[in-house]
Amino acid sequence: MTTLKLPGLIDGHVHLREPGATHKEDYVTGTAAALAGGFTCVLDMPNNTPPITNAETLAAKQHLARSHARCDYGLHLGAGADNVQTAQALAPQVTGLKLYLDQTFGPLRLDDLASLVQHLERWPADRPVLCHAEGRTVAACILVAHLTGRQVHICHVSRQDEIELIRRAKEKGLNVTCEVTPHHFFLTDEFANTIGFGRSEVRPRLAQEADRQALRSNLEAIDCFATDHAPHTRAEKDAPNPPPGFPGLETALPLYLELVREGVISIEQLIDRVVYNPRRLFQLPDQPETWIEIDPDEDWIVRGSELQTRAKWTPFEGWTMRGRVRRVMLRGVEAYRAGEVLAPPGFGRDVRASAS
Ligand code: DOR
Ligand code: ZN
Ligand code: ZN
Repeated sequence: MTTLKLPGLIDGHVHLREPGATHKEDYVTGTAAALAGGFTCVLDMPNNTPPITNAETLAAKQHLARSHARCDYGLHLGAGADNVQTAQALAPQVTGLKLYLDQTFGPLRLDDLASLVQHLERWPADRPVLCHAEGRTVAACILVAHLTGRQVHICHVSRQDEIELIRRAKEKGLNVTCEVTPHHFFLTDEFANTIGFGRSEVRPRLAQEADRQALRSNLEAIDCFATDHAPHTRAEKDAPNPPPGFPGLETALPLYLELVREGVISIEQLIDRVVYNPRRLFQLPDQPETWIEIDPDEDWIVRGSELQTRAKWTPFEGWTMRGRVRRVMLRGVEAYRAGEVLAPPGFGRDVRASAS
């Protein structure tokens, strides 16, 4: 058995569903999934019920995360039409401001151009803004960020036209960063024929083969890899009006390693995208005495029923994955070993704790 030692992985985009939808996931199960997948820090999205858009909802979520999380975490704040000033005041306590500009899961949504401009004008210029933006909205975000003199991060880029536009913007020196998910690197719209319509529902939608290839051939324009871990129950996915989203924390690393084996990316470039770039972009503290040990050659078959996520399903059911996390050390403590999550709920630290 070979052992490869890597820094703890960082996922800048997860949905751990607490509060409001703990039947799908909560901090205890979601951060167990993170550790099992090799992630020692995850940044949690604000599209909860209620959405995390003000001091009260943020304080309540901070309290839940502090008592339940097993790995380190940060919270992103949600942008609404009426919280421009509130958001600005809460910036020190969160890892970023998330703008939902296109249709996806949950009620948190920013529809008008004026709100987009105001948020980008008022949010501190040295703190990240993240956009759920698809198609033409990507262009709108990049332009407004440029005009307001600030950075913008485009979440889960999935299409050729989007990644090419971002690459061109970067070439012009515009301050835009982006991330891509494992599912958009590996799956296309045809996959609905394999796992069914409801199970394959995700936003952005699975795209075409040319899009998938364009993501792979534009790696230098992709700053981060992020799972967009978005658990829903099997019953919800198999019912009419299935919610979009895939659990992804426990299958991400072997898929990322597959990109290395396929020659799409080097291991060093991978570590930049899953550790150093997200750490720099989201201004995360170093995690001392933190690393993961993986067996890069171990083959294992993905079974949803064996995963730590409460969703207990995966779009990659039955796939043979190569590469498995054996052990996770988090701040000097053994947090995961051979299938067992050892870090207790409450062990995880808020990366912005000193500000709250
Ligand atoms: O598929 C998705 N699911 N995309 C999103 O943008 C949101 C997420 C969720 O929260 O379920
Ligand atoms: Zn999104
Ligand atoms: Zn998301």
